[in-house]
Amino acid sequence: MSCKDSTESFNRERISINEGWKFMKYDSPEIADSLFYDLRPEVLTVNDSKAADTPATEAEKLQASKKALKPYILPTANAFIKDPSKHHTRPEGHPGTDFPLLQSNFDDNGWENVTLPHDWAIAGPFQEGPNTEVGGGMGRLPSNGIAWYRRQIDIYKTDKDKIIYLDIDGAMSYAMVWLNGHLVGGWPYGYNSFRLDLTPHINFEGINQLAIRLDNPNHSARWYPGGGLYRNVWLTKTSKVHVAHWGTTVTTSKVSKASARIGLKVQVENRSGFDTEIETITKIYTINHGTVGKQMAVMEKVTTKIQAGNTATINTTTTLENPKLWGPLPTQTPHLYRAITHISHNGVDIDTYTTDFGIRDIKFDPNQGIMVNNELIKLQGVNEHHDLGALGAAFNVSAAARKLRILKDMGVNAIRMAHNPPAPELLELTDKMGFLVIDEVFDSWKRKKTPHDFHLIFPDWYEADARAMVRRDKNHPSIVIWSYGNEVGEQYTDVEGATIGKTLSAIIKDEDPTRPTTSAMNWAKSDMPFASAMHVISLNYQGEGIRQDPIFDTVTDRIKTKPQYGPFHEKFPNKVILSSETASAASSRGVYLFPVSDMTSSPIRDGMGGDSNIKQVSAYELYAVDFGSSADKVFASLDKHPYSAGEFVWTGFDYLGEPTPYYESRNSYNGIIDLAGFPKDRYYLYQSRWRPDLPMVHILPHWNWPDRIGKTTPVHVFTSGDEVELFLNGISLGRKKKEAFTYRLRWDDVIYQPGELKAVAYKKGSFWSQTTVKTTGEPAQIAALADRNEIYADGKDLSFITIQLTDTDGLIVPTADNTIVFEVEGPGEIIATDNGDPTDMTEFPSTQRKAFNGLALVVVRSIAGKTGKITVTMESDGLKASQIELTAIQKKP
Ligand code: GAL
Repeated sequence: MSCKDSTESFNRERISINEGWKFMKYDSPEIADSLFYDLRPEVLTVNDSKAADTPATEAEKLQASKKALKPYILPTANAFIKDPSKHHTRPEGHPGTDFPLLQSNFDDNGWENVTLPHDWAIAGPFQEGPNTEVGGGMGRLPSNGIAWYRRQIDIYKTDKDKIIYLDIDGAMSYAMVWLNGHLVGGWPYGYNSFRLDLTPHINFEGINQLAIRLDNPNHSARWYPGGGLYRNVWLTKTSKVHVAHWGTTVTTSKVSKASARIGLKVQVENRSGFDTEIETITKIYTINHGTVGKQMAVMEKVTTKIQAGNTATINTTTTLENPKLWGPLPTQTPHLYRAITHISHNGVDIDTYTTDFGIRDIKFDPNQGIMVNNELIKLQGVNEHHDLGALGAAFNVSAAARKLRILKDMGVNAIRMAHNPPAPELLELTDKMGFLVIDEVFDSWKRKKTPHDFHLIFPDWYEADARAMVRRDKNHPSIVIWSYGNEVGEQYTDVEGATIGKTLSAIIKDEDPTRPTTSAMNWAKSDMPFASAMHVISLNYQGEGIRQDPIFDTVTDRIKTKPQYGPFHEKFPNKVILSSETASAASSRGVYLFPVSDMTSSPIRDGMGGDSNIKQVSAYELYAVDFGSSADKVFASLDKHPYSAGEFVWTGFDYLGEPTPYYESRNSYNGIIDLAGFPKDRYYLYQSRWRPDLPMVHILPHWNWPDRIGKTTPVHVFTSGDEVELFLNGISLGRKKKEAFTYRLRWDDVIYQPGELKAVAYKKGSFWSQTTVKTTGEPAQIAALADRNEIYADGKDLSFITIQLTDTDGLIVPTADNTIVFEVEGPGEIIATDNGDPTDMTEFPSTQRKAFNGLALVVVRSIAGKTGKITVTMESDGLKASQIELTAIQKKP
């Protein structure tokens, strides 16, 4: 079918090809094939536990290699390089064509069967001990290595006149794709989505064999990157004339409750080989609970001539009366709309394209912060890495939604995607659930933080990667700011670094003139050129000051910064300032170490919040990494600088890798919530500030201290009230009121005796909330609570079951560490267990797990197409066994 004389109506098809892959990873790079992207510097010395704020260093010079396939891959970037003179030309030849593994008749029966999203490293085993290949920084899991994925794709004779694209939402990393032995292209950066045109190499009459090579380097990240085709992969079939890749842009302006102006830009590609004429018409609908609702507007029909091989841009606008605005919860509602664009030729539909969007007005007020629909929304944000704890990097919507629900309950209203574009579905969730988002593209530019990080490809790919992020994500109403860097080494290179910053900011602005840009600074100061390119000033830790504790008086070679809100506000009175990272406080859930600091914020040392023998950090929540501060100190600094737009805490959840200060461990200690998703005490400190209307009061520590009878055991209380009376065994230990710039109430001289602590909170003199913490008996039984008792039988949906070890009265035993054995019956499978202990090296898929301080987690996944009762049994020596029932149900069409 040429489009010119088409009589056939066709709407694009987007086909999931997550199922049915074969996977093989070489045992070592030495025995791998030689189809590599480019040379990498040899890593001779490794400093795995390097502090996060160590300045980046210059890239090493490499000898160019003729054999490298990079020249064949670079043309994939052309669509994202604005200046045509900088486009790459593919060299002659077909590298790899004869390689047996690329052939359809290659016998891959011995390879592993995998379903995407797939993270090849998450099953472990963890690499324990000193001098392991993969260290604590990258999570001790085997993410490094070279691997292949193979699959045949279904192409029919009737597809002959179509264009066939492969859409990969993320491949970790250095993806190179062959179809039927032809090297089609690739994308090195593991976090961006990309598209390859398969059409020229398709066999419309027979087998179509895909083979994808990934080569994920060690020493490439400061966190766990995961490895593999770890996001969704799609086949998109379109007519020869179709809406271009990420080819619609919605903008909203003149937004009020009475009306809003909607602008829509549609780019249509004509690959028919003929000049053509098309009609474009877009209808706008409401979206209610994910389904299309009422039609609200029809945009004017436009007729456009497109020459063969060209792309036309069609701009239309409409006005919507009484629009339902998108805004963050809880004060606003994240209403969404759907634009459905129909392209037709001679009255025949040739493409239909859907764009979801929200209508909101965002203003940046340098004296207050971010105004959403004229309401000041102070950022109550967290940073999140991309991993999903025990599920690794393999994206899963229900795991991501659970994370967001837990964060929302704490009062979070904003997320910074640290330090790379997330899975597209995560942004769909932030749209639906009403979070404000900073979408960030890079952690390093030309200078390196680790020997194999993005700096190796920055010169060739920075423009493509920056544009790809914005093009893909621009229609998400949740995104309010683009970030083009995090603590990059170029902060230190004066005008040279600032020039790169300006270039990146300009690229982003060129793609999306509607949102501001930023780049997070932990070192650059207000008088340095680096800050001037950005529209929003993002400070990491500098707002509250870095290493100001007297313990650092003799330290000279690290960042030491006085509080910087003032100097930046003075220098840039017209720019909003926010803290893109705060705190980097650390703690292990349920671990309390003595003595307890009498300061409001303290660095971690042995005997001062830390214990390097057990590799745990005290949950009194006063301790932070050397350049960080406790939550309390950050709150005071924000309150003293009310023009600050707010904060993004480092981090919401613990994440795999970067286990400062104990690099023997597997995951970070920085989360407010542990890796299994269980709140640490800090959760309630943030909740007390971020949800002032929620009556709550929280006591720490637990009250099981048989060795502390008669010893001083401080009790700290977090509340959204303003006053608390604390009782021990019914005797009042006094009523205390929060002073200005204090955020917890502390009774530091309580003498421990077993029994009951009770905190009664008041607000403005009236009762507000109360809670108790009791000394428990020995563990006797197992309680299980599922986050969702009903899951969809789609082979993807998950139930997260929290296991509590309780005494005979049903009280959680806060020190219990019994091993639990899990079994499942019915249409479900256990895919992971965890307990949030950063030192636990039991493999995640294990069906046996020790509890950590009374809790453990088991994750159950449904089986596609199988409905019914799923029974999970928990047993532990000496404890009463227990069961929980889930139901797998059919998803509504
Ligand atoms: C910051 C850095 C983050 C993380 C954090 C750990 O300096 O931007 O990526 O490393 O420190 O405390």
